[in-house]
Amino acid sequence: MYRSHNCGELNASHINTEVTLAGWVQKSRDKGFMSWVDLRDRYGITQLIFDSERTDKTVFEKARTLGREFVIQVKGKVIERESKNPNMATGDIEILVSELNILNEALLPPFTIEDETDGGEELRMKYRYIDIRRNPVKNSLLFRHKVSMGVRNYLSEKGFCEIETPYLIKSTPEGARDFVVPSRMNPGQFYALPQSPQTFKQLLMVGGMDKYFQIVKCFRDEDLRADRQPEFTQIDCEMAFVEQEDILNVFEGLTRHLLKEIKGIDVAEFPRMTYDHAMKTYGNDKPDIRFGMEFGELNSVAQNKDFSVFNSAELVVGIAAPNCGEMTRKEIDALIEWVKRPQIGASGMVYVKCNTDGTFKSSVDKFYDQDDLQKWAEATGAKAGDMIFILSGNANKTRTQLSALRMELATRLGLRNPEVFAPLWVVDFPLLEFDEESGRYHAMHHPFTSPKPEDMHLLETDPGKVRANAYDMVLNGNEIGGGSIRIHDKETQALMFKYLGFTEEEARYQFGFLMDAFQFGAPPHGGLAFGLDRLVAILGGQETIRDFIAFPKNNSGRDVMIDAPSNINPAQLDELQIKLNVK
Ligand code: AMO
Repeated sequence: MYRSHNCGELNASHINTEVTLAGWVQKSRDKGFMSWVDLRDRYGITQLIFDSERTDKTVFEKARTLGREFVIQVKGKVIERESKNPNMATGDIEILVSELNILNEALLPPFTIEDETDGGEELRMKYRYIDIRRNPVKNSLLFRHKVSMGVRNYLSEKGFCEIETPYLIKSTPEGARDFVVPSRMNPGQFYALPQSPQTFKQLLMVGGMDKYFQIVKCFRDEDLRADRQPEFTQIDCEMAFVEQEDILNVFEGLTRHLLKEIKGIDVAEFPRMTYDHAMKTYGNDKPDIRFGMEFGELNSVAQNKDFSVFNSAELVVGIAAPNCGEMTRKEIDALIEWVKRPQIGASGMVYVKCNTDGTFKSSVDKFYDQDDLQKWAEATGAKAGDMIFILSGNANKTRTQLSALRMELATRLGLRNPEVFAPLWVVDFPLLEFDEESGRYHAMHHPFTSPKPEDMHLLETDPGKVRANAYDMVLNGNEIGGGSIRIHDKETQALMFKYLGFTEEEARYQFGFLMDAFQFGAPPHGGLAFGLDRLVAILGGQETIRDFIAFPKNNSGRDVMIDAPSNINPAQLDELQIKLNVK
């Protein structure tokens, strides 16, 4: 038996018990006649004491050879500590060691294994297994497990069945590039790794498994950001014989359950906001509604004066930054530079200081009088002491820019409190999205999403106006889940492929299996998928998902620990009949 107890569980009630512990040497202190070792495992730290009077001489000397992170096993008696540590679960006791076994020696770790470490990101990723010994990483993984179990138990209890779907598949378009896998037995042909199990879960509905879920890896070859990894995990769900309302209710229930169980927070019914409203009010389809700063459109009160910049703009729109009226000229200039950076792309910014005496001072006083500015304040909801920031230009671009500014200001003003949770549904997404690059429409969600029947007639004449039965769940400014009611008849699906620019042959080649299945009794169905990594990170009060993934990839999609991707040997390439053409 390697251990009778773990390093986090012994307390005063165990005094005089003989125990066996195993773990890693966190640190040791040697006072000559006495030495102490902090022994660490997943559960905590227990102090060991070696005493020249009470400890056997060989054990005492051996203890002095221990280095950091040595793996050891000790036997000894639990005794009361002379100087107790009330901040530690095991702080009342220590172990008077009688036997010490070194199970494995260890090299000096490349960074300190403390909550605040001296190791940089890249170094910690290279030695991730050491990083996992640190409390913040370990706790994030344990937290993830808790969320996953919460999800599994809840869905299971509601009659959902977890079913695995294949990883070696034919590409399913979810908007990103596929990772592909060559097939040795079918030279020249490739599998794609699933961007999601979308078509399989629909086929499971045709198969009669009317409530499916799967906690599943998905793979997308796309540019990485803090909330994106090339392989990530979805809580993927699908239901048959449901309408949008049924799905929203079930998964709102799940999210509410998780917030209660994991965070102890009760949230009221989730607000629902149309996509159009979200874009107009927040410039964003995943609005953070923990704070206000809603957009005020100013076209009617700012145009037709002598300010040509606003006159020529498609949209003039502002936000009121609360209690920012005292910002200095220097701070304002820095903010103007911030919105002009290429990442944001604004050409300039107008501001209005709302003085506490009810007057206004703006950067465009030449063109606007106090009455005009009063109207701007009303439109943006600005109060005395606030500062209004205004951008103008192309409507979509300006909204995106102002949204970025809104989030930045909220962060600077401390309005994005990670302990406050403000979930909502964004509904009525457009079915199609025009892609400037290819000059044609793409499915905004995916090609299996059903159009709203009442908008079907617009497909021919005004495709961009057709709304879909599609919805996203948004939590604190992050899209944590998305889904839709699906098309379940062959004709509509064929029509959809046609509008997406597939020829009949292409549609048949890529999705023949799905259209065939729709002819064998496909029930009405719909579903959604949560991003588990994102959900866990946000519940954990963070937005970077990497910290909640045991072995994440870096920003260039590399695993720096195992050094992947890597070259493969020529024999393997030959076997696959692949010739490299890397420049
Ligand atoms: P969607 O593409 O919206 O929908 O993905 C669902 C959720 O997965 C998360 N997500 C990601 N998380 C981390 N890294 C990524 N690269 C990444 N990409 C997506 C997001 C997102 O909301 N098949 C549909 C679902 C459906 O219609 O049922 C789908 O995959 O949180």
